[in-house]
Amino acid sequence: TQVFRIGIAGLGTVGASAVLMLDRRARSLSAGSGREVRVTAVSARDRARDRGFDIDRFTWFDDPVALAASPEIDCFIELIGGEKGTAKAAVEAALKAGKHVVTANKALLARHGSELAALAEAKGVSLQFEAAVAGGVPIVKTLREAMAGNAITRISGILNGTCNYILSRMEAEGLSFDVCLGEAQRLGYAEADPTFDIGGFDSAHKLAILTSLAFGAAVDADAIHVEGISAISPIDIRMAQELGYRIKLLGVAEATATGIEQRVHPTMVPLTSAIAQVMGVTNAVTIAADAVREITLIGPGAGGDATASAVVADIADIARGSGGMPFVLPVAQLRKAERAPMQLHHGG
Ligand code: NDP
Ligand code: HSE
Repeated sequence: TQVFRIGIAGLGTVGASAVLMLDRRARSLSAGSGREVRVTAVSARDRARDRGFDIDRFTWFDDPVALAASPEIDCFIELIGGEKGTAKAAVEAALKAGKHVVTANKALLARHGSELAALAEAKGVSLQFEAAVAGGVPIVKTLREAMAGNAITRISGILNGTCNYILSRMEAEGLSFDVCLGEAQRLGYAEADPTFDIGGFDSAHKLAILTSLAFGAAVDADAIHVEGISAISPIDIRMAQELGYRIKLLGVAEATATGIEQRVHPTMVPLTSAIAQVMGVTNAVTIAADAVREITLIGPGAGGDATASAVVADIADIARGSGGMPFVLPVAQLRKAERAPMQLHHGG
């Protein structure tokens, strides 16, 4: 049988889960694509670290960039993280070498998505990133595939599992911000630098990707008004509750007469609203569009298995030969929102 050879760089929370999931789902993935789908090579920093599987089954590369360009693989999976440095060099090397690429790296895509997409298109290979937005929630495929017949007017939701986890536990158990953040880090939800989570930047990276897919705009996180949750105290949470609200970190992108307005900030949502019921690491994304009116996807926004689920879905797409273009060509203008931090939210 022909083998579809996968190389994975980064064997942390997501990478290790992806290796195990590809093992568990090997038969089904191979049956669905007509060839054996198998991990053949891996790379991380520390070869000796126990990752829950036998590393000697795979060819080991000390350097992810060498793995990315290696003739030993057909598809490169980048699960290292970071908007520059090794992750960027490896993705570029893979695309230039004509390999398909799957990445969960929203920071990289938010900064360099357009140029990487152009490189993938020039080389005729896929660049897939379902895991980069909302973890296990299949929002990228929903926008790219299932909603192609719709004109989208608004996207809004909870895009960061760490922040929603922190806010939920602070409210439910009266724990301090720092204790909740530490727990989110222990569970593998937080970014290597958690400032990206609590500062709202990770939500902004994801929103920039969604905006590009939904509205045909350039991927540009700098065009987003960003405020995080670092300044939210237990008193804010209690006061909001007494007024009949709950605080959520929301990302919103909407079409206006002068361009696509994007913002990320803590928002008071009515306790009775659907979005207020979304607790813990769960993410929720609502798409408003002309034909279907409104669709909401809710599910686990971070964590090893949830995120690996999205990575493996991309691998399955590519193995089946249905990768497609990464982003549409930009047609819409972006406009930076200027909003008060604790805006009331009355929708859904
Ligand atoms: P981790 O920190 O758990 O894992 C990172 C991995 O990359 C580690 O295996 C590490 O090696 C390896 N690594 C780091 N630097 C290098 C380097 N220079 N050369 C080789 N290997 C390197 O991160 P996550 O698994 O949490 O995240 C990976 C990516 O997925 C990030 O882009 C993140 O934003 C994204 N993501 C994460 C989610 C989550 O819930 N955790 C959800 C959605 C996306 P070693 O183990 O040897 O130290
Ligand atoms: N740190 C991110 C989060 C991981 O908490 O949502 C998923 O993208």
